[in-house]
Amino acid sequence: MSESQSFIQKLKGRAADLAAGAIFQVATSSWNLAIPVVLFLIVGRCAFQTPETFSGPVTVDFALPSEKAVPKYEPAGKIDQNDIRWRFRYAETGTEFRAGVPYWIFRIMPRLMPEQFGGRGYDWFGFDDEDGEFYESTPVPRGLALSDSTLRIPFLNVRFNLKRVSVNCAGCHRGQLIDESGKRRLIDGMPNHTANLQAFKRFYASAFQDPRFEGGNVVAAINQALAEDEKPALTKKEQLIYRALVEVLRGYTRERGSAWMDSRPDNGPGRIDPFNAVKFEVLKVPDDGTAPTLDFPAVWNQRSEMRLWHHYDGNTRDSSARNFGSAIGVGGIAWSVYKHSVSKIGDWLDILPPPKYPFAAPDPAQVAQGLELFKTRCAACHGLYDREKNRIDTTSSPNYMQINTEIGTDPERWKAFPTAAAGALNRFGFEHGLWPRDAFRGSTNGYLCGPLDGIWARAPYLHNGSVPNLNELLKPPEQRPKRFYRGNPSYDALNMGWVHTDSARKDNGLPLFEYDTSLVGNSNQGHPIAIEDDAERAAVLAYLKTL
Ligand code: HEC
Ligand code: HEC
Repeated sequence: MSESQSFIQKLKGRAADLAAGAIFQVATSSWNLAIPVVLFLIVGRCAFQTPETFSGPVTVDFALPSEKAVPKYEPAGKIDQNDIRWRFRYAETGTEFRAGVPYWIFRIMPRLMPEQFGGRGYDWFGFDDEDGEFYESTPVPRGLALSDSTLRIPFLNVRFNLKRVSVNCAGCHRGQLIDESGKRRLIDGMPNHTANLQAFKRFYASAFQDPRFEGGNVVAAINQALAEDEKPALTKKEQLIYRALVEVLRGYTRERGSAWMDSRPDNGPGRIDPFNAVKFEVLKVPDDGTAPTLDFPAVWNQRSEMRLWHHYDGNTRDSSARNFGSAIGVGGIAWSVYKHSVSKIGDWLDILPPPKYPFAAPDPAQVAQGLELFKTRCAACHGLYDREKNRIDTTSSPNYMQINTEIGTDPERWKAFPTAAAGALNRFGFEHGLWPRDAFRGSTNGYLCGPLDGIWARAPYLHNGSVPNLNELLKPPEQRPKRFYRGNPSYDALNMGWVHTDSARKDNGLPLFEYDTSLVGNSNQGHPIAIEDDAERAAVLAYLKTL
C-alpha cells in the first residue's frame, strides 16, 4: 500500500467515528485535524460555502433532505437567544463533536430496541419533557441539545450540517421537583437528580453492537419515523450514507472506552464519575481502581466570594478549568468546546441565586432557635448564608473553604485525584489552551467546607449522595438508612429530601434506583455532627429551609 493510501486508510479507520459520533467518546489526538477530509470522504457530496469573512464559519453542507426533515423547536413566544437561561438549557457546549448521536439514529433507538427503554422513550433514562417556558415542543428531551457540529479552530469555524444530539450543562445541572400541589417544576442550577447519565452512556455503548443495529433495520426505522412526520423517505444516497454510518458506529464501539465503569457499582440517577472518565478516557491514565461516584452538585453562586475553590475536594479555583473541564468530561474535544458560550454560562453561574424554598414557610420561632444552634454547631465550617442579600458571612468561620481531612465521609473521591492526576490534567489543559498550567491541585486528602445556600434543593446529601435527606444527615451516622431509593422528584418537606422509601415514582410509574451504602464509593458514614434532640434537629431543619 502506498503511503498516501495507508494515510487515507488510517484516516478512515481512526476518524470515521468522528463523523458518526458515538456517545461520550473523547478524542484528543491530532487526527481530529483530519476530520474535514474524512467527512468529505464518507459523505461524498459536499458544498463548501465561501466564508464571508476571514473568521466567519465555513459550512460543510451534506445537503441531506432528511436533515431538513428534523423536527423544529416550536417557540412558545419570542425567543431571545441572548437570554442566558436559553443558552444554558438549549445551546450546545461542543460535546456533540465527539459524543453526539446523529438525530435520526437517536430518534429510532426506542423503536429498534424497545426493551432497553422499558417500552418507553428517553424518559426511561430520566430525559423527560421540557417545561414549556421557551418552547411548546422540542425535538429532543430536556437536558439534551440538538445542533450541527462545529470545530472552533482559531480564526476559523468549520460547521458540519449534520444534526446531532448531545448532553449540555442542563443535562446534569437543571433539576426537577414536584411541588405540594403536584405541579412539576424545573430549576436551573439544581442537580438533575432524576436523570441516569451512566445508563444512557452505557446504552449507546452497547446498542451499536446489538445485532438489530444493522443497515437495513436502521434505514427502515428511519423511513418509518419520517413517514410518521409526513416527510419523504430517505433517498438512495442517504440510505447508503446511513448504512455506512452504521458500519462505522459498529466498528467504533467494538472496544468500549467506558469499560472501566463495569467494575464499579452502578451510579444510578443523579450521579456520575467525571474525574475518572477524564483520567481513563481522555488522559489514558492506567486504571487505579478508585470508585469516586459523585452526586451532581448545585452550581449556583459559583463566584469566588462564595466559592473560592471548586469541586468536592477543592481541586481548582480556576473558572476556566471548572467550566471547560466539564465540557471535556462529557465528550468535548479541545477544538470543539464552545468556549465563548460555556464562559458566558460560567459567568452566569457565578451570580445565579439558589431557588427559594417553595413549600410551607417554616415557623419563625423554630428558625430563630435553629439559627442559634447553627451558629454554635455548623457555622465554623459552613459560614452564615444570608439569602436576602445573597451573601455569605464567614467572620466566625475559620474553616470555611478549607479542606477538612477528618470529616470521615467516603474517601474514594479524594483518593481518585492525587497530585499525578492534577499534573496530567494541567498539562492537557495547558497544551490545548483550555486552562493555565497550574489550574488543578491534587491530593487535597479531604473535602471542602462549603456554603449551604439552597441546601433544601441539593438532596441526596454528601459528595456521593449517600444520605437521602437532611434529617438523616443530622443523625448519628450509624442510624442513617443503609438502603434507599434515588430519583424521585416528590419532595418530603418534613425530612428535607426526595421521597426515598418508594420503589417507583408516583408521577410516571418508573422504577427507581436502589442505593446500597455498603458498596465501594457509596459509604454513608462520616460527618458525625449529630443533633440528637428531636426538637433541636427540627429547629435546625427549619433554619436550613431559609437558606
Ligand atoms: C454528566 C454530568 C455533568 C455535565 C453534563 C456537566 N457537569 Fe458540571 N459537574 C458534574 C459533577 C458530577 C460535578 C462535581 C465534580 C466534583 O466536585 O468533583 C460538577 C461540577 C461542576 C461545577 C463545580 C461546582 C462546585 O460547587 O464546585 C461547575 C461550576 C459545573 N460543574 C459547571 C458545569 C458546566 C458549565 C457544564 C456545561 C459545560 C457542566 N457543568 C456540565 C456533572 C456534570
Ligand atoms: C468540622 C467542619 C464541619 C462542621 C462543624 C459541619 N460540617 Fe457539614 N460538612 C463538612 C464537610 C467537609 C462536608 C463535605 C463532606 C462530603 O461531601 O463528603 C460537609 C457536608 C455537609 C452537608 C452536605 C452538603 C451537600 O451538598 O451534600 C450538609 C447538608 C452539611 N454539611 C450540614 C451541616 C450542618 C447542618 C452542620 C451543623 C449541624 C454541619 N454541617 C457541621 C464540614 C462540617
